[in-house]
Amino acid sequence: MSKFEYVKDCWYPIGFSAEFPEGKLQGHKIANQPIVMWRSDKGEVVAFDDRCCHKRFPLSESKLLDSGRLECAYHGLCYDTSGKCIAIPSQPDKAIPPQVRLSVIPVTEQDGVVWVWPGKPENAHRLSPPRTPEIVDSTNLSIGSPEPLRVPANYLLLIENLLDITHFYPLHDGNIGDKENSRIPAEFEEGESEGQTYVKTTRRVDHYRQPPYLKEWFLYDDVERIHTHCMVSPGLTRVVMRVAPPGKLGTEEERGYTLLHLHMPVDERNLIWRWSVSCKDWHRTLSDPNMPTAKKVAEMFPEVVAQDQWALERQQKMMEYPDNGYSELFLKTDKALRRARQILMALQRKEREPQMTEVERAKVLDLDANT
Ligand code: FES
Ligand SMILES: [Fe+2]
Repeated sequence: MSKFEYVKDCWYPIGFSAEFPEGKLQGHKIANQPIVMWRSDKGEVVAFDDRCCHKRFPLSESKLLDSGRLECAYHGLCYDTSGKCIAIPSQPDKAIPPQVRLSVIPVTEQDGVVWVWPGKPENAHRLSPPRTPEIVDSTNLSIGSPEPLRVPANYLLLIENLLDITHFYPLHDGNIGDKENSRIPAEFEEGESEGQTYVKTTRRVDHYRQPPYLKEWFLYDDVERIHTHCMVSPGLTRVVMRVAPPGKLGTEEERGYTLLHLHMPVDERNLIWRWSVSCKDWHRTLSDPNMPTAKKVAEMFPEVVAQDQWALERQQKMMEYPDNGYSELFLKTDKALRRARQILMALQRKEREPQMTEVERAKVLDLDANT
């Protein structure tokens, strides 16, 4: 595999809105860019390069003053919520040139998620972050991962993992491991939505016998089921499961969930993974009429995620060796993750070779499609 690091010109989900209360200073690293963030007294989340203009001291380890200013903890340069330096304590009488300001990192808050753009700010207007309406749908109970999961692996490995259900057995044996599941044929779809290329698989099955854990979540023994996995953007993968007694999909009897996987590159060897599970808020589990289905699904998640983390860390270590004639095997069932890899690599190449003409770019994309 030629080297993939990360796509920079992209909206990445840095956290859920509730994690940004007013006045809380935060430091993040995304695509190797240190970022300082906070919610201003006007209610907007702002983000800047975390390095003080003066001597690079991390501003995320400095202090937000009551006045709303950010004061560097080293020599006290002060910044306002536009990133402009408005005070230099050692030279109070000198005018501050306008270029003494922090680099702005574009931020968008949408549908309960805060997104940042670590790439070239002038390109941020070309795309909007993908929508996540499930999180703010008042008929849903949505439960988000309580904290960011940090995994020492490139985020492409996670995206590939999320598009692949053939690893449920053996990696998830004992919880969601289900061999029968991985044998269901997948329909493949690729397209463009809101400027992003997506890849999606759909598995449709009739008279599927749900394993015990799915029966507990979704009530029925024998179901008609539609299960989709979609890489919406380099920052978001959506998994949807819809089940009902045969012929009853789309009726009151339908059960299921939406899982949103929010992923970000910290750098080329580390990622951050968040998730959010949504079910209808009146849905309950089979054995406990007081247990909301979303809560039950979310309870199983940490164990499943820990197994994926275990695999991803090990895969990353093996990526570090030179290929020396080694090449990966792609199975028929790997079509979606193979395309996801090609798409991300093409985006990276496009960023690194901005001097290419559109025609040359089209050629590269074609080549990618055939590799
Ligand atoms: S490094 Fe921030 S004020 Fe000097
Ligand atoms: Fe997994």
